[in-house]
Amino acid sequence: MCGIVGYIGGKQAAPVLLDGLTKLEYRGYDSAGIAVLDPDGNIVIEKAKGRLSVLNEKIDGGRAVNGFCGIGHTRWATHGEPSENNAHPHCNDEKTIAAVHNGIIENYTELKDKLIRRGYSFYSATDTEVATKLVDYYYKKYNDPLRAISEFALRVRGSYALAVMNKDYPDTVFAIRKDSPMIIGVNGGEAFLASDVPAILKYTRNVYYVDNLQIARLEKGGVTFYNLDREEVEKETVEITWNAEAAEKGGFEHFMLKEIYEQPRVVTDTVNYVLKNGDFDFSEVGLTDKDFKKIKGIVIVGCGSAYHAGVVMQYVIEDLARVPVRVELASEFRYRNAVLNGELVVAISQSGETADTLAAVRAARDKGLKTMAIVNVLGSTIAREADYVFFTKAGPEISVATTKAYSAQLVAGYAFALKLAKIRGTVEKDEYSRIITELTSLPEKIRELLNCKEEIQKFAAKTLDRHDVFFIGRGLDYAVSVEGSLKLKEISYIHSEAYAAGELKHGTISLIENGTLVFGVLTQKNLIEKTVSNLVETKSRGALIAVVAEEGTNVPADFEQVFRIPVTDGRFAASLAVIPLQLFAYYLSVLRGNDVDKPRNLAKSVTVE
Ligand code: AGP
Repeated sequence: MCGIVGYIGGKQAAPVLLDGLTKLEYRGYDSAGIAVLDPDGNIVIEKAKGRLSVLNEKIDGGRAVNGFCGIGHTRWATHGEPSENNAHPHCNDEKTIAAVHNGIIENYTELKDKLIRRGYSFYSATDTEVATKLVDYYYKKYNDPLRAISEFALRVRGSYALAVMNKDYPDTVFAIRKDSPMIIGVNGGEAFLASDVPAILKYTRNVYYVDNLQIARLEKGGVTFYNLDREEVEKETVEITWNAEAAEKGGFEHFMLKEIYEQPRVVTDTVNYVLKNGDFDFSEVGLTDKDFKKIKGIVIVGCGSAYHAGVVMQYVIEDLARVPVRVELASEFRYRNAVLNGELVVAISQSGETADTLAAVRAARDKGLKTMAIVNVLGSTIAREADYVFFTKAGPEISVATTKAYSAQLVAGYAFALKLAKIRGTVEKDEYSRIITELTSLPEKIRELLNCKEEIQKFAAKTLDRHDVFFIGRGLDYAVSVEGSLKLKEISYIHSEAYAAGELKHGTISLIENGTLVFGVLTQKNLIEKTVSNLVETKSRGALIAVVAEEGTNVPADFEQVFRIPVTDGRFAASLAVIPLQLFAYYLSVLRGNDVDKPRNLAKSVTVE
């Protein structure tokens, strides 16, 4: 998964490209490069391994490369190790064609063999070089840049957001996408291309969302779109409402902390997306009351934290609406010959581009099932392919470790569960209104919780040297434990496991040693005593105990640390219990000197398998 940019206009292209890539580094950052058409009409390519700052320094912030038309790329390696040679842009031997690509060309080896048989040689291990030379092959064959791209699209299997420069067509960038994200912005005589909105917000708010298999031609006079038959197609621009500052750090040290502190606003906005005058209205999602009535079963699919949000959603929907719900890892569901019987498939994805979740949506649709996406990115592929779409209102989430988007997914799930319960008559009218009032009180309770950060920061400093951290809970407390464990692992690099507390005695308690840190989540009133017993068992084996518990919950005095959270409806407790766990992971990562927003080996959106 990578980030691509393109520019044509009156400015020097290189600084604009570098600026855009800076905003896309969260998509991949093991190497970067740009290609610019210089004043002599030659394509100049500059690439560097490592973070974008290495390229930036190499070309003096872009001043070393002149020209008004160019493309750029920041890479997260999928084919070929991170290296300058494998970095994009890639080009043909004559350097008359250059391209950048985000995605994966699944049949690149057979295409490479065909091109080798036609006299091509290759300098890199990437599928993108194959894509570039395939375009070159068809351009030489038809002498038509649009035909070259359409022929490329007809022969390639896989996903791509591809931007191409052709020396014979100066001041023009060609592009095409399939399944990988791409937007094109326009502003007077300028045209911008990018994988994501933050890359171009500084320059324009008017964007085109490029549809699958549409070809775009970016010129100073504007952008023209074509279908694969090279017939022009009309497209409307969409105005982006995000402000540029929203995609910046807003004064916080890291995007992650900024995003943790945005959660009260995000929860408010996401609830208000469907809560109108004290009742839920899912018409913007596309779901009518009639559609809700038809729901007899639900399958939730997602990956990572999105999957964890689905685990919470399962408990809440079954408890409130009494409809059977199962949650599956999207990467498993897509290959499993699941027994399905008319369920609504709910796909949860912040980016809306996760390959496994997208494939799960497609698998469900192939089986004739209705799909609802809970996504955070307007215009994302999953959003476009699902039957119904619940857009969470988290705004751009830059930190690889999700926090605000996860919280938004939780409340989207609560709202869905409440609406379904009301339609099915499984919740009394008064109880329904009381629960909605509690739901709308969550943002204030989260805001109150965020004041406890110093206590968590101190505890993180005390436990900095731990090698193994366990998170345990029962019911919804287990559902939030898995999220707390993932947060810790992915940004602090400390090994951690989450267990249903009842499972410890079936094997894992053997792992408890002197000083092992065990986090207990204690919000589910009917289960607290049992989890406390499990915690006491680990303590008797030398564990250090920390718990997350509501105000007023009795906790043994010899537990080393208690993080208090406000009292709320047990079904919403995950939204509060997760806050101390997010902050704990954040401060441990900072104390360990890690790159909090861009943890090693991870990318914000995994658009490849
Ligand atoms: C969560 O902190 C991770 N970054 C990761 O597990 C993420 O939730 C997962 O890759 C799913 O991403 P998505 O929500 O964009 O589909």
